[in-house]
Amino acid sequence: MSPTDLPADAAPVGVPAPEPLLRVRGLRKSFGTNRVLESIDLTVGRGQVLALIGPSGSGKTTILRCLNGLELADGGTISIGAEVTLDFGTAPVRKELTALRDRSAMVFQNYNLFPHKTVLENVIEGPIIVQGRPRAEATAEALALLDRVGLADKRDAHPFELSGGQQQRVGIVRALALRPQLLLFDEPTSSLDPELVGDVLRLIKELAVEGWTMVIVTHELEFAREVATEVAFVDGGTIVEHGDPKQLLRNPTQERTRQFLHRLLFPF
Ligand SMILES: Nc1ncnc2c1ncn2[C@@H]1O[C@H](COP(=O)(O)OP(=O)(O)OP(=O)(O)O)[C@@H](O)[C@H]1O
Ligand SMILES: [Mg+2]
Repeated sequence: MSPTDLPADAAPVGVPAPEPLLRVRGLRKSFGTNRVLESIDLTVGRGQVLALIGPSGSGKTTILRCLNGLELADGGTISIGAEVTLDFGTAPVRKELTALRDRSAMVFQNYNLFPHKTVLENVIEGPIIVQGRPRAEATAEALALLDRVGLADKRDAHPFELSGGQQQRVGIVRALALRPQLLLFDEPTSSLDPELVGDVLRLIKELAVEGWTMVIVTHELEFAREVATEVAFVDGGTIVEHGDPKQLLRNPTQERTRQFLHRLLFPF
C-alpha cells in the first residue's frame, strides 16, 4: 500500500498516532451558581504535551484540579490509561478516585512545599505515606532525582532557604517521585523572578523530550510553541479552539483567541 492509498486523516507513515493516555469528555463544574467549566473535552496522547492558555478566571486551574482529583466535577468523565475511568455522572467510587490521583501529579504555581519539612522530606512524603513504598527505596530515588536537577546538596535545607527556581525544581522532583503517568503543571514559572524562569522551563522541556505526558497551564508562549504538541485556548469554561501550537499561536481562527494573544503580547 502506498501513502496515497491512506485516508486523508491517517497519521503519516512511520509516525504512529500516539495511544491516548488522557481522555476527558463533557467535564462540568460549578462553584455555587458560578458555572466554571461548561463542557470540557480533551485528549492527550502518551508522550504528548498539551499547553492550556486562557485569561484569568477561565477555568484552567479548575481543569487541572479535576484531573488530579483535588476537585470533584459535577459531570463528565476522566480516563487515564485504559484502566481508570471516573464518571462524575454517577457517584464516583472511592477506588476510582484514588486510582486517578495515583496516576497524575501536580506542580503548583506557588510550589506548595511543606515549609517545616526539609527538601528530602518533601520529596519522600508522598511515596512513603500515600503510596506505602519502603523508606530506603523512596529516599534513594529522591536523592537521584534531586541530583539530576542539581539540588542534591540541598537535601537537608528547608524551602525558605531556597530560591524560587530551586523550590520549583523541588516541586517537580516531588511530582516525579510519585512515578505518575501524567504530569500537570499550573503556571509553573509565573511566581519566579525572570532570571529563574529559564532553569525551570529547561527542566520541563527535558521531561517532554524524555516522553513524559504533560498538561501545562502557561503564559510562556515561546515555550508552548517549542515544547507543546498541542495548545488549547480556554475561555469562559470552554475550549474555544485547539491545535498545532505553531499554527494556533500565529494564526488563531477565533477572534477571542486573537484578542487574548494580542493582550498577552501587548499588555499596555
Ligand atoms: N474553590 C473555589 N470556590 C469557589 N470558586 C472557585 C474556586 N476555585 C475557583 N473558583 C472560581 O472558578 C473560576 C475559575 O477559576 P480558575 O482558578 O480555574 O481560573 P484560572 O483560569 O486558573 O485563572 P488564573 O489564570 O487567574 O489562574 C473563577 O471564577 C474562580 O473564582
Ligand atoms: Mg489558575
